[in-house]
Amino acid sequence: MKKTVWIIAVLLMPALGWANSGGFYPNDEIDVDWSDKAAMQRGAALFVNYCMGCHSLEYMRYNRMGKDLGISDELLKENLIFTTDKNGDQTKVGELMKINMNKEYAETAFGTAPPDLSLIARSRGPHWLYNYLRGFYVDKSRPLGVNNSVFPNVGMPHVLVGLEGLKEPVIEKHEDAEGNEKEVIVGFKKLSEGSMSQAEYDQAVRDLVSFLDYVGEPIKEKRKSVGVGVLIFLFIFLILAVLLKKEYWKDVH
Ligand code: HEC
Repeated sequence: MKKTVWIIAVLLMPALGWANSGGFYPNDEIDVDWSDKAAMQRGAALFVNYCMGCHSLEYMRYNRMGKDLGISDELLKENLIFTTDKNGDQTKVGELMKINMNKEYAETAFGTAPPDLSLIARSRGPHWLYNYLRGFYVDKSRPLGVNNSVFPNVGMPHVLVGLEGLKEPVIEKHEDAEGNEKEVIVGFKKLSEGSMSQAEYDQAVRDLVSFLDYVGEPIKEKRKSVGVGVLIFLFIFLILAVLLKKEYWKDVH
């Protein structure tokens, strides 16, 4: 009996959000609005400007993104394509969003090669990403001078520092279940300002995460609208079926 209760509890954990709440700071919720194309366009601009130096989106083509987010080929070429092909010409709109980073060089520089981010929103989830990108803080003991409260000892530098500014952690000592003292980050204090206010920065990160969520499953919006269509069809069909049943059975009593 006890065992069954445990199994049920474990099965329910993700649904109740325990598994995802992570026990880290910051731990704020994010709602990705799939109809907000403007936010995703801003996110795409942030991505190509700040992330694509190191991270590719190997499963996404520029013009597919353009089509889904309402960006014309001309605008793509002018504002969003900074990579070049083998001959040194600007990458074509029909190409995949790959980069030419040398893996070995990256490993020496950062300890780990920056992974492709096509599926990151699926593996980590928007909630994790939103807090990760707001979790960088100054830590002199790390090779790049920064650490991350959501991904401790991360190899990635704080690339958005110009926007967010620098912050230091507010640390409290907590006892864990075994009674051992443990240092926990419970907040941040700003050390220097970036070009954005905290609210603007949070919004920018939300845009970026919305974009990554779209990249992880470009078909999601379509799937949802097809789903709604199917439900409407089934509903109409149900009414017809009920009427038909009434018609068939009206003389049988
Ligand atoms: C200077 C290179 C560089 C840039 C620019 C960069 N990153 Fe990273 N990023 C890394 C490296 C290196 C790692 C691997 C860190 C590790 O595993 O310790 C990483 C890891 C990550 C991860 C975690 C992946 C995982 O293992 O789950 C995410 C998410 C991420 N980066 C997002 C971004 C976003 C979004 C941007 C743009 C705002 C960006 N990165 C810009 C180098 C970079």
